[in-house]
Amino acid sequence: MAIGLHTDFALLPPGGLPHPLSKRAITALGGLRRRDCTGSDMLGWLCLPDQPESLLDEIEAEARRISALCDLVVVVGVGGSSLGAQAALDFVASPYYNQLTKTRPQVLFSGDHIDGDTLCDLLTLSAERRLGICLVSKSGTTVEPSLTFRALEHHLFTRYGPDAARRILCICGDGPLSDYTRHKGYTRFAIPEDVGGRYSTLSPAGLVPMALCGLDIRGALKGAKAARQAYLDPEGALTLPARYAALRQLLADQGRPVEVMAMFSPALGAFGNWLQQLFAESEGKNGGGILPLPAAYTADLHALGQFVQQGNPIVFETMLTLSRARYDCRVAPGGGFDGLNALVGQPLDDLCRLAVEAVARAHSEAGVPVLHISAPGRDAEVFGWLVMFFQMSCAVGALMAGINPFDQPGVEDYKAHMRRLFGGLI
Ligand code: PA5
Repeated sequence: MAIGLHTDFALLPPGGLPHPLSKRAITALGGLRRRDCTGSDMLGWLCLPDQPESLLDEIEAEARRISALCDLVVVVGVGGSSLGAQAALDFVASPYYNQLTKTRPQVLFSGDHIDGDTLCDLLTLSAERRLGICLVSKSGTTVEPSLTFRALEHHLFTRYGPDAARRILCICGDGPLSDYTRHKGYTRFAIPEDVGGRYSTLSPAGLVPMALCGLDIRGALKGAKAARQAYLDPEGALTLPARYAALRQLLADQGRPVEVMAMFSPALGAFGNWLQQLFAESEGKNGGGILPLPAAYTADLHALGQFVQQGNPIVFETMLTLSRARYDCRVAPGGGFDGLNALVGQPLDDLCRLAVEAVARAHSEAGVPVLHISAPGRDAEVFGWLVMFFQMSCAVGALMAGINPFDQPGVEDYKAHMRRLFGGLI
């Protein structure tokens, strides 16, 4: 398996990437390989593909137990602790997973807001279902998931009494939540201390919700391992994640600090949100970074596309496409009003490929640099591969810019301010 990276833009100097830029990317990649880069105490994500079989067995057993007990599980978390699992569910299963599932519980994601109305609606719909909760919070002290968890936990105990404890899973780091979990007798899985939120998709933070939905967690780790081997092992080489990082930096240096990350399938929508979080929180520091803007194509071509094509030329575009469809879906007969009768019987997959080409042509001709990353199908292995590819590329990009990819001082400031203001109410 391999993913492809094509560059369809004219601004690339003859001879390709400037040598100093390639050299910086290779150096940054070397820092990851030798584990001696800035933030080297947070490189545990590189080891996640090697998690022991016994842990995976435990996760799968727990997922089966909860599946038998619940028909709705609310995964409570925010940012890095939640977006990876959402991305996996849409990518590997379907954006319609909840409507399609027959043997596994439905899964809703919450805990990412402070909105009482939405929380009340969640409680109303939870009351009609055999409910379970899966709280994911590395620190255990983030306000948004804590508020939602309290409400759902209270609801469960009111409804089931002490038996409610069997319906609650917590995935967290060491700290107050871990102590509380032990005290209450909830099942707990650990997020390793050297893995940050946005790099935790392949840790229990992502694997447990994935297993709840019946996704192939071993496949995801296998894909990630293969990607790590392909991209990290060759010493001194500008492997694909480093090349992508260098290209992004080149474009930012050319006055294009905004990257529209165009996802060509609804199944990639949540993946786009995960990418935004990964890149924005890793790179957006010290007045620098490239602003990642996920876009759902072709829908957003009817809106954002206008800006990309003819607006302020601060944008470059990275298209993410899948080269193999899961189903053989073809243009249906009927509906002759649309002038598309000649297409009857054509695979939608082929039409989508042409749409990608049309977008690339239109935008390139307008001077917008277009990168194109294509992945094979939509299985767990490809998902794991992509997660590792983008995490490595993001880390390399930040390191090239002299930024620690693994901290988030701005986010911590917001959290601290909120806690201080809430303190006035306590
Ligand atoms: O990537 C990060 O570190 C953040 O996005 C966190 O995942 C997010 O703030 C949630 O934090 P926690 O898992 O501690 O609740």
